[in-house]
Amino acid sequence: MSTPSSVKIVEVGPRDGLQNEKAQVPTDVKVELIKKLVDAGLSVIEAGSFVSPKWVPQMADTRDVFQQSARISNVCFPVLVPNLKGLEAAKEAGAKEVAGFAAASETFSQKNTNCSIKESLERQLRVCEEAIRSGLRVRGYISVVLGCPYEGDVNPQVVADVAEQLYQMGCYEISLGDTVGVGTPQRTKDLFEHVMKVVPVEHLGGHFHDTYGQAIGNIFGALEMGISIFDSSIAGLGGCPYSPGATGNVATEDVLYMLNGMGIKTGVDMNKLLVAAGYICDHLGRSTYSRAGRALLSKQRQAA
Ligand code: HMG
Ligand code: MG
Repeated sequence: MSTPSSVKIVEVGPRDGLQNEKAQVPTDVKVELIKKLVDAGLSVIEAGSFVSPKWVPQMADTRDVFQQSARISNVCFPVLVPNLKGLEAAKEAGAKEVAGFAAASETFSQKNTNCSIKESLERQLRVCEEAIRSGLRVRGYISVVLGCPYEGDVNPQVVADVAEQLYQMGCYEISLGDTVGVGTPQRTKDLFEHVMKVVPVEHLGGHFHDTYGQAIGNIFGALEMGISIFDSSIAGLGGCPYSPGATGNVATEDVLYMLNGMGIKTGVDMNKLLVAAGYICDHLGRSTYSRAGRALLSKQRQAA
């Protein structure tokens, strides 16, 4: 398997990055962040989620965030939907792409979506059928692919079975989520090897949280397997409300730093990414979780 020459980065900061923030981030801050991410050259930016606001209050303004963002550019802004109600809201807002989500462990499925894996796939099937009929594209996520916070190890065959079903329903891309951030590079490679038997490699992506500092290594492992789609979050923000102890997503700046170093094209500008990171970190009142971001900023300060 050869390493890809270009990679699509799916920026999930405005959704995964912010969904777990306790203090409500104002809509105009989210929109300004998205503007800065667009300016940095990101072509896919997850704008939010149409989930129950009782479950995830931070995402309650997704309609406004999406509509104000969609106005500023032609970038693709997928939104998360767990069911037909979410899909209807996404359609009304004018979304062109939605992302559904399922899990590879029963307990996580119950905690995150209040239903079993089988039920969530049934919901997902209805979402796919209706979305595709309405001309929307559907991305599919699978959570806890390398370990579950409640059940521990996850069998890669279960991940492959769920991925195959999502693909057959019409999901054009399936992102494998290490929600807990427990994966290691070799296990990541083994997982993709399983899943690639049932879903073509070009339709698979990786979504790594960085709890154990393994996310960049996992991406490197996945690149070696030919994976060319990676989700990441500006400044390494993020976490799932139903994955206790898990930290943020891999930082977009760290992913870009590695890809630039490997000569892999992304179309993303590091300096502008640092501006976006600075903006949201200033708002949240904390420093970036990105190692590359921190190092580059300190270099910039020394040079000034
Ligand atoms: P439920 O309580 O079983 O749903 O939740 P329900 O159908 O019984 O409805 C209960 C209430 O929710 C009703 O309102 C519905 O109208 C409302 P009420 O009558 O009580 O006022 N409702 C909705 N409202 C807005 N939008 C909707 C919606 N659906 C129902 N779409 C449900 C089931 C799936 C809705 C709930 O469990 C939920 O919203 N879960 C979302 C959890 C979530 O957002 N988790 C984080 C995203 S996934 C993630 O982060 C992982 C990922 O990053 C990859 C990785 O890292 O692994 C993608
Ligand atoms: Mg996530």
